[in-house]
Amino acid sequence: MATVTFIGAGSFGTALSTIVAAKGCRVNIFDIDQPHLKRMEEAMENTDYLKGVKLEGDYHFYTDNEAALKDADYVVFALPAQHFRSAISAAAPFIRDDALVMNIAKGIEQKTLKRMSEVAEEYFDMDRYVCISGPSHAEEVGIGVPTAVSVSSRKTETANALADLFTTNRFRIYINEDMLGMELAGSVKNVMAVGSGIIDGLGFGDNSRAAMMTRGIAEMTRLGLAMGARSETFAGLSGVGDMIVTCTSMHSRNFRCGRLIGQGMDPEEARKSIGMVVEGMFTAEAAYQLSKKFGVEMPITEAIYNVINGKLNVSDALEALMGRPRKSEI
Ligand SMILES: NC(=O)c1ccc[n+]([C@@H]2O[C@H](COP(=O)([O-])OP(=O)(O)OC[C@H]3O[C@@H](n4cnc5c(N)ncnc54)[C@H](O)[C@@H]3O)[C@@H](O)[C@H]2O)c1
Repeated sequence: MATVTFIGAGSFGTALSTIVAAKGCRVNIFDIDQPHLKRMEEAMENTDYLKGVKLEGDYHFYTDNEAALKDADYVVFALPAQHFRSAISAAAPFIRDDALVMNIAKGIEQKTLKRMSEVAEEYFDMDRYVCISGPSHAEEVGIGVPTAVSVSSRKTETANALADLFTTNRFRIYINEDMLGMELAGSVKNVMAVGSGIIDGLGFGDNSRAAMMTRGIAEMTRLGLAMGARSETFAGLSGVGDMIVTCTSMHSRNFRCGRLIGQGMDPEEARKSIGMVVEGMFTAEAAYQLSKKFGVEMPITEAIYNVINGKLNVSDALEALMGRPRKSEI
């Protein structure tokens, strides 16, 4: 059976690891946080990030990249977007030339405004690279809730190989050739999830949330089209699908963080109090910068970015959004 190495022992990587472990693969888990990894190995459960999911199968835990990677047929980068570059640069020298690589991170690198695949191509042959996105709370994947996601690769055989590896009767995988659209949708929806949480925290209802999600899809599609993505992707699993799951659920830390902000907590305090990486808080600035770079109007992203940075309070942001000049919906 294949050996699958996960770089990062967080919630989604752990959930995905249970799929391949159940198929009989050898699972290597690498993380820079040694105490966390030790707790995980002792409990055979990720008590820090995915409580209640027992790790059954051929699991091995590593704090050394080379040992974790030398026999890996597949490598899954399973960490937050802002940590991807340091992880990939440390791992790349030890990844076999024939290994296939998948990345789960949803975000845009803050300093460079690069998507994850643009960071990856500095280190690898992109014919071996796959991104995965779609509505997939780790908490649900980990307990086998039926889930559908998409994968994308420059090379169809690579996308199919990863899809074969992770497909089960509870985890369905579509192929989408539009990696750019998938990466943008997966990143910007985390910003919208913060906004949806703010709406919830303010005590507003379903109308407000539905309006924000729908107009959020409109603005991420505008950005995508300006950058060369396909509009269908934003209506698919990585777009509307992930938007629904992230903007309506307490499983989402972006949503929970926004909720605290809506209830009046200082944004930085809210981010810290979640205790885990809140991708949307970082992506807001990157998405705002991309909107400026490509000359695309993204009023909701801009409002959320300004709230996060303390430039606007939530009620002024709401006034600004609701008071925009009338325009055609389409
Ligand atoms: N949680 C989910 O349900 C879910 C679902 C789909 C996609 N995602 C995306 O997956 C990415 C990871 O999120 P998560 O929730 O699984 O992560 P997490 O926050 O639960 O855990 C991240 C892990 O990465 C480790 N890490 C950080 N830097 C590292 C490095 N340089 N080398 C090795 N390990 C390192 C941390 O120690 C931690 O164990 C995010 O971009 C997120 O948006 C998450």
